[in-house]
Amino acid sequence: MPQIKFYKHEQIPMEMHKVKIVQQLNLLPADQRLEKMKEAGFNTFQLHNIDIFMDMLTDSGVNAMSDEMQAAMLRADDAYAGSESFFRMQRKLDELFGIPYCLPAHQGRACENILATRFVKPGNCVIMNYHFTTAKAHITRVGGYVEELVKKEGLETHSDLPFKGDIDLEALEACIQKETPENVSFLRIESGTNLIGGQPVSYANMKAATDICKKYGIVTVLDASLLQDNLYFIKVREEGMQDKPVREINRMIADLFDIIYMSSRKFGFARGGAILVRDEEMFHSMEDLVPMYEGFLTYGGMSVKEIEAITVGLDESMDMDIISQGPQFIDYCVRVLDDYGVPVITPGGGLGAHLDATEILSHVPQEEYPAGALTCALYLCGSIRGMERGTLSEERNADGSERLASMELVRLAFPRRVFTLSQTEYVIDRVKWVYDHRDLIGGLRFVHEPATLRFFTGILEATSDWPEKLVEAYKADFGPDQ
Ligand SMILES: Cc1ncc(COP(=O)(O)O)c(C=O)c1O
Repeated sequence: MPQIKFYKHEQIPMEMHKVKIVQQLNLLPADQRLEKMKEAGFNTFQLHNIDIFMDMLTDSGVNAMSDEMQAAMLRADDAYAGSESFFRMQRKLDELFGIPYCLPAHQGRACENILATRFVKPGNCVIMNYHFTTAKAHITRVGGYVEELVKKEGLETHSDLPFKGDIDLEALEACIQKETPENVSFLRIESGTNLIGGQPVSYANMKAATDICKKYGIVTVLDASLLQDNLYFIKVREEGMQDKPVREINRMIADLFDIIYMSSRKFGFARGGAILVRDEEMFHSMEDLVPMYEGFLTYGGMSVKEIEAITVGLDESMDMDIISQGPQFIDYCVRVLDDYGVPVITPGGGLGAHLDATEILSHVPQEEYPAGALTCALYLCGSIRGMERGTLSEERNADGSERLASMELVRLAFPRRVFTLSQTEYVIDRVKWVYDHRDLIGGLRFVHEPATLRFFTGILEATSDWPEKLVEAYKADFGPDQ
């Protein structure tokens, strides 16, 4: 995004696109939202989209497409095998990443399934800077376990460190020696990170971490699902990178890894995924898993229309005007909330603004899911749907005890090119109101608790009548209709 300077107005982020198609939104009255929240079992995944004003659940598969992406969808080549749409995507990926071998998959977690199935044996360790829910679930499903070695500053909420997603290099080497290289399935670098506030990883850190792994003969894997944000942060924050084109930075990163996988529900602005494999033999060793789990090797469970859109979306992800939009809106939101005294993760990262529920609801024990409760409060007071990223998103320990998350966050995702600045101001306003009334918010408990990925389908209830009291206070300030 170019730095458009204002003459009189304060500096604000600027959209470098215009709206061509819109979707009408509904704002239900607070009393009805209370009913909908109860019907959804105090789980924002269970709400219906029609009952939501600001859907900030995720940036996955809900980014706005460009006219060029939509136009490309029209030329999709429908074929079970040998679709030209796939070969166009493959050529684009090769051009951008310098890796010709591509396994298509329907989304990011499908890539994770294939990688875990191929590389992880019972008792194996996978080392990462930080886990993502589905990545970890697939690794543990096949009997492996995860070691997370993000630098300790990555878990500090308030900071001005530019790359809080960096892996601790000393801990990485010590971990490899403790585990022995033979027991390490691979190193997975998530760049940028999801569960710790969309924080980026520096190029220097990725280079050093992959160098260590090369020394020990360990396979290196890049989760590039949030790479478009990370590219932006490397370009603006990392020393020596300002003059390099985004494409060059992208290629420098790609050159470090043996395998790169992505959710193109994020990276590519459409719906799909892919695994890029540098080594031909390694590629063939995974090939059979694609038709088994996904679909034939030239569509991998994706619609060919989406494949065409991804191909254009990947090109757009190399454009600084385009990839700046998300991080700059998030930065604006985080800065204003911080000025209001609302505990937020700083500095602003990619993906979304993250509220620190540990501090905001310090009176709610972690076993009562403070981040889950705050997520529900934001729907009740503003019809904003965020996502819990804390203990509720964890799975229980083998003995049934809670695995308490290292951070209790509410993520307010900014799907790319979707929301305007006035909608962002509305969100900031309602978050501030909820923060000022935080004493009214209590905890949650499970009524139905699934064994895996419980945050998707679990049913909860409030531990007291706090939702009713909160809604009454909200109506007293805003009237019954909002
Ligand atoms: C870093 C990261 N990896 C993997 C995934 C999984 O991708 P998908 O939702 O397409 O399955 C996500 C999704 O949010 C993610 O953020």
